[in-house]
Amino acid sequence: MNQPFLTLAQIDEVADAIRARTSQQPRIGMILGSGLGSLADSVQSPDVIPYSELPNWPVSTVFGHVGQLVIGALENQPVLVMQGRVHFYEGISMSQVTLPVRVMQRLGIEILIVTNAAGAINPDFEPGDLMLITDHLNFVGMAGFNPLIGPNLDELGPRFPDMSQAYDRALNDLARKAAREHGVLLQEGVYVGLSGPSFETPADLRFLRTAGADAVGMSTVPEVTVARHGGTRVLGISGISNKANLDGNTMTTHEEVIEAGRVIVPKLEKVVRSVLSLL
Ligand code: HPA
Repeated sequence: MNQPFLTLAQIDEVADAIRARTSQQPRIGMILGSGLGSLADSVQSPDVIPYSELPNWPVSTVFGHVGQLVIGALENQPVLVMQGRVHFYEGISMSQVTLPVRVMQRLGIEILIVTNAAGAINPDFEPGDLMLITDHLNFVGMAGFNPLIGPNLDELGPRFPDMSQAYDRALNDLARKAAREHGVLLQEGVYVGLSGPSFETPADLRFLRTAGADAVGMSTVPEVTVARHGGTRVLGISGISNKANLDGNTMTTHEEVIEAGRVIVPKLEKVVRSVLSLL
């Protein structure tokens, strides 16, 4: 697991290992972020595979990430749910961070629903809100850690993939409809992905706000970049866990992020289930 770039053969080794453990053919992949993993508990006829039993699969060391794949049905849709994800700050390569999305693509998954916990930069957002991700700022990629750096996997996508519509407009419309139908407030905005693990300084946050970010987190952008490279359609939803600390007068903690998940999960579950039933 130390080589920076995973090959197609290594990706296929994982896809084969999953096929050997389930006869189900998932169409939709889901990544559940910090404190948001309990959605996986309602998957029907689940085949559960701990990450530690899959070759090459990165295992998260972060509290709040269970670390298993749950394959089954949600709202009659065949899904593969990642209960917990790994982050770049855990010290692994971008290729490893995004391996799960590559495996999803090799398994024939067409749609990725990605969730995360994020801090609100937009002053109109409150902890507990949901935010539909309409676009992202790839700061980590701009700093030289784009997950597509390295040999291009031509079988999966082009050297220079388009990112003009990273978040699928038709799926966004379904999420808006789903939220409306269930009376759930769905904020919308731009997610900025940073490496972490330290939270932002007030100066970082003022800068990010000027740059056009509405919410900040430490994940998602690499996975979405790789998803789009391979032609996978993406729906992204952030659970706002805290107000980012622009004035320097409050502190952000991981406990706060996990706690907010309890408020966010029931709303997120309504919206995601409803989107699945509309697909
Ligand atoms: N900053 C970065 N990542 C986060 C935050 C935050 O305030 N909240 C949840 N993830």
